[in-house]
Amino acid sequence: MPRILSGIQPSGKLHIGNYLGAIKNWIGLQDDKKNDCFFFIADYHSITEDYDPREKSKEIFDLAIDLLALGLSPKKSTIFQQSKIPFHTELAWIFNTMVKMPELERMTQFKVKAKKQTYNINIGLFDYPILMAADILIYKAEAVPVGEDQIQHLELTREIARRFNGKFGKFFPEPKSILTETPKIMSLTDPAKKMSKSGGDKSYIALADSPETIIEKIKSATSDTGGGKDKRGGENLLSIFNAFAETKSEKIEYKNYKKDHEAGKLKYSEFKPRLAELIINYFAVYRENRAELSKNPDYIKKILEDGDKKASAIAEVTLREVKKKIGLII
Ligand code: ADP
Ligand code: TRP
Repeated sequence: MPRILSGIQPSGKLHIGNYLGAIKNWIGLQDDKKNDCFFFIADYHSITEDYDPREKSKEIFDLAIDLLALGLSPKKSTIFQQSKIPFHTELAWIFNTMVKMPELERMTQFKVKAKKQTYNINIGLFDYPILMAADILIYKAEAVPVGEDQIQHLELTREIARRFNGKFGKFFPEPKSILTETPKIMSLTDPAKKMSKSGGDKSYIALADSPETIIEKIKSATSDTGGGKDKRGGENLLSIFNAFAETKSEKIEYKNYKKDHEAGKLKYSEFKPRLAELIINYFAVYRENRAELSKNPDYIKKILEDGDKKASAIAEVTLREVKKKIGLII
């Protein structure tokens, strides 16, 4: 069975970029019985950025609720918390000895985040891709569904696997990334940047946003600028419309809006409220599920505990084999 694995950081609210770029694929992949799916909360990754320790456990808990409310199922996937499995960080230490500094200095995400928190360019932020490689390879995952911004980290993961196999004998697969049709949703306020939690409140739509907020944010979203010359804002909104269009008539609607946009005739006063409506309806079930799940914290904890146990058993075996291969077992 092909093993699929991905992780997401508990660092504030989920936005539609996270959903359309990654989580939507997770749900689809777990529904295919051929796949053995592992999804986890990357809490160790999340402490490389500024955070409030009083908020962190709530963020972890809320993310678990969000993932379940969106349709991840403990019956189909193993869902767990990264920091509960110490073997990830142990393997990361071993990988640390196999990667050179300039290889990490090249990482785009590191460069972007280092610029953002100049006062706190900590070693964890730098080492982030190595822990990510360990997260993936410790389960010998073959495929990793992520957004486009993580592709570079996946390339490094493959390189580490190749290096390890070359030096110690064939052991790790070289995992490939799986992208959705919308691997990079752009910011609503600056269509040149990817949608991200760090771009400011109006730049993203959080899944937890109320219908009123969604309407407001879409209304103020950047569309075409420069007298219609720069169409990136409009294209981004159209791609979001397309991603949330499920029925045949919604797909036709999308095609018509797209044609209008290409001809420079798209009426944003019509299109924008319709887009907001589509997003609001799409997440109606999620909002209901979320409210229900929030009432039952013990159930959430139990799901994570069960997942931790299952993941831990596999990770422990891999780490033991790795230690043997590299000569640490006497
Ligand atoms: P953020 O950039 O908002 O902090 P994360 O780094 O937690 O988001 O990303 C979680 C997942 O969502 C990753 O797989 C990432 O590639 C994906 N993702 C994040 N932002 C976007 C986006 N704007 N478009 C598509 N996918 C995204
Ligand atoms: N770095 C990923 C992100 O920011 C989260 C992550 C951590 C991850 N470990 C992973 C994703 C392993 C896939 C596989 O989104």
